[in-house]
Amino acid sequence: MAVITTSVHPNGLEYIEVTSELCYARILLQGAQIDSFIPKGQAPLLWVSSADDYQPGNGIRGGIPVCWPWFGQHPNPGWPQHGFARNRQWRHLSSEIQDEVVTLKFVLPLLEADRRFWPHNTRVELHCRFGQQLRVSLININLDNHPVTLTQALHSYFPIGDIHQLVARGFKGAHYIEFGNGPYAQTTDDVHFVQETDRVYNGLGDEQQLQTPHGVIVVKRAHSQSAVLWNPWIEKSQRLSRFNDDDYLQMVCLEAANVREDAVTLAPGERHELTTEISWQI
Ligand code: BG6
Repeated sequence: MAVITTSVHPNGLEYIEVTSELCYARILLQGAQIDSFIPKGQAPLLWVSSADDYQPGNGIRGGIPVCWPWFGQHPNPGWPQHGFARNRQWRHLSSEIQDEVVTLKFVLPLLEADRRFWPHNTRVELHCRFGQQLRVSLININLDNHPVTLTQALHSYFPIGDIHQLVARGFKGAHYIEFGNGPYAQTTDDVHFVQETDRVYNGLGDEQQLQTPHGVIVVKRAHSQSAVLWNPWIEKSQRLSRFNDDDYLQMVCLEAANVREDAVTLAPGERHELTTEISWQI
């Protein structure tokens, strides 16, 4: 029988744990950030840096940070990278268990202080479905009387064992921007990693795979034509917060996104659902 418990980390962060016949999962209320998902009998599907000491106020370096309502750097100087949702306290709305599949729903309460960054009346929820796969949906509803445009990403960190052996698949036909240059056409299906990689793909099909020495991770997306593929490599690893110098060997981010030409514009009353689904290929 699935069990859902709430606890507090020694440093003060609240989290919810799910233990079922299908998986183990953990999600922090700060950022509604999932930091662990382990399908029953399989290896963990998400990576977290051992350098992160889970201090309140920081996003955790791993799992699935929610980037909202903008992805990357904002043109306004000093505004937080990847928006403000990942550092803020979300509210747990509901829990549901059906055939051992657990669905948890969260809402981000928008505070008066957020109006500086986000002067719009919208509702944003995160729905997490923990079964043999992990499905995460970031839902936006425009409650305002004018159109609203946003960019966003589910910034998933994956444990890939050895970056030198990783092959990321399913990219042919897309185009990407990297370090402000491009767009470049992606002519091969496979991506290998030999240097810092920080690509924003657009025009991407809805499934990619990460072929690791320990198995193949399948990453599906819905209502998303864009994704980010990131590995910081040697020098950037040394500059990153809450990240060990050699962590780049063990992780890659493949992020379901709505960025650049795939930004979301919602008419008044409109709803959008960005979804990613993650599993080990069996
Ligand atoms: C990626 C960006 O999505 O996130 C990178 O493409 C960035 O450029 C990385 O370095 C991590 O960002 P942060 O803000 O969590 O350190």
